[in-house]
Amino acid sequence: MENQLVLVLDFGGQYNQLITRRVRECGVYCEIVRYTTPLTEILKKKPVGIIFTGGPNSVTDENAPHIDPGIFSCGVPILGICYGCQLMAYTLGGSVVPCETSEYGKTQTIYDKSNVLFQAEELPETAISWMSHTDYISEVPEGFSIIAHTEDCPTAAMACPERKLYAVQFHPEVNHTEHGLTILNQFLKEVCGCVGDWTMENYAKLAIQQIREKVGDGRVLLALSGGVDSSVCAALLSKAVGKKHTCIFVDHGFLRKNEGDEVEAAFHGQDIQFIRVNAKAVFMEKLNGISDPETKRKVIGEEFIRAFERESKKLGTVDFLAQGTIYPDVIESGSGDAAVIKSHHNVGGLPDYVDFQEIIEPLRLLFKDEVRQLGIELGLPGHLVWRQPFPGPGLAIRIIGEITDEKLQILQDADWIFREEISKAGLDREIHQYFAVLTNMRSVGVMGDGRTYDYTVALRGVMTTDFMTADFAKIPYEVLEIVSARIVNEVKNVNRVVYDITTKPPATIEWE
Ligand code: XMP
Repeated sequence: MENQLVLVLDFGGQYNQLITRRVRECGVYCEIVRYTTPLTEILKKKPVGIIFTGGPNSVTDENAPHIDPGIFSCGVPILGICYGCQLMAYTLGGSVVPCETSEYGKTQTIYDKSNVLFQAEELPETAISWMSHTDYISEVPEGFSIIAHTEDCPTAAMACPERKLYAVQFHPEVNHTEHGLTILNQFLKEVCGCVGDWTMENYAKLAIQQIREKVGDGRVLLALSGGVDSSVCAALLSKAVGKKHTCIFVDHGFLRKNEGDEVEAAFHGQDIQFIRVNAKAVFMEKLNGISDPETKRKVIGEEFIRAFERESKKLGTVDFLAQGTIYPDVIESGSGDAAVIKSHHNVGGLPDYVDFQEIIEPLRLLFKDEVRQLGIELGLPGHLVWRQPFPGPGLAIRIIGEITDEKLQILQDADWIFREEISKAGLDREIHQYFAVLTNMRSVGVMGDGRTYDYTVALRGVMTTDFMTADFAKIPYEVLEIVSARIVNEVKNVNRVVYDITTKPPATIEWE
């Protein structure tokens, strides 16, 4: 059975993905499509509801995005948000004009509690909503009534219940809007009649069934990195097709302490062909004498492909190559053929050399947090499911300069202590990425009665939403104190620990 679908029509607003995620939080499956998608295409998908997003334009701009007015009479309930609200008003004959006082930020909003959108008990008659607009609806279209207002905005929400058309000037999807999720939920459940059938339990069942049907007697190959996406993908495939599925885990030796064994432990003994390639010696040899970060990356990337290639050739013909593409990758690379072409050449850098018929991407509908939920549903251990982002080249780009066995050991031990203490302090899910770096610097210290001349370990912890910009994490001094004391005491050849307090930009998150 297919899930009920709600479509989000994207008008270019910054919260588009957030709206989609919130709808899914309400247990309703939701996809984003561009506003230019023809109405016939939209209707072919049989949505039970449509949401118009916000957008940067003014509806009266010459090049402002518009919509086929037929959408308003196709019988599918619509919720317009911000620009989407104004577009609905404008298209149906209302008036949209520039605000005398623009509203931006938290705004006291008075709701009409008799309207279905605002009927939920927990929503008070007056509450904060998040506004961000420079135009307002001065006149609602015929048949509509105003169902919310603020001091400066006479139409904070409007509705035409007969036609199942609703619109809100504010952003119910952002956390700043009190009970915003409740308002969305009312639209989904009470107006669209959604039953809330989007759960990871259902998703897992459906995905397993679909993979089985597609794969038939064929064979599937997956490059397992140990990251969240490829691990969940592997777990799903193993449940779906068991031994017809082979995972190749190329361990380049630059994973964190014990991580290679943890990945193996999670999959070994499962109903799956699991191949671990211990390639550390080869990688170390190829990296001998190399200290330039980009050269390190290039050498590791190439050798990774070669190692995978050597192993996969032993398997003979493979019918499907699986990869852990997730929904944000699909949205970012555009929908339709473009995404397929991109993903084909983007299997963690594994392009044309493996002979396979088709790619399967069992996670391409899921957001990252849903991938994690699915991992839990499939019984994967917490340390894999909650794994923080980790660069493909691993610790090789966290050892500044040339890589040696000794340095790798030092870094693995220091990083282990840091992660252990962060976890003990209950910060492991708060800080978005945290790790140790082995600097290439030695300095003078004193230990016992003797002078030392040893390495400096740098600790890095960042808070970020998109990894494009980041702030350093304000880790409590008490935690840093314990980490520092433990590292200098427990890790040989380290006599100094520093904490990196730079933001990105100008620094990057990684040191190389
Ligand atoms: P930077 O250092 O560019 O890092 O601020 C941003 C995010 O990207 C990760 N990163 C990498 N991931 N291969 C990867 O797979 C790489 O070569 C690489 N370099 C950086 C980094 O860990 C952070 O999450």
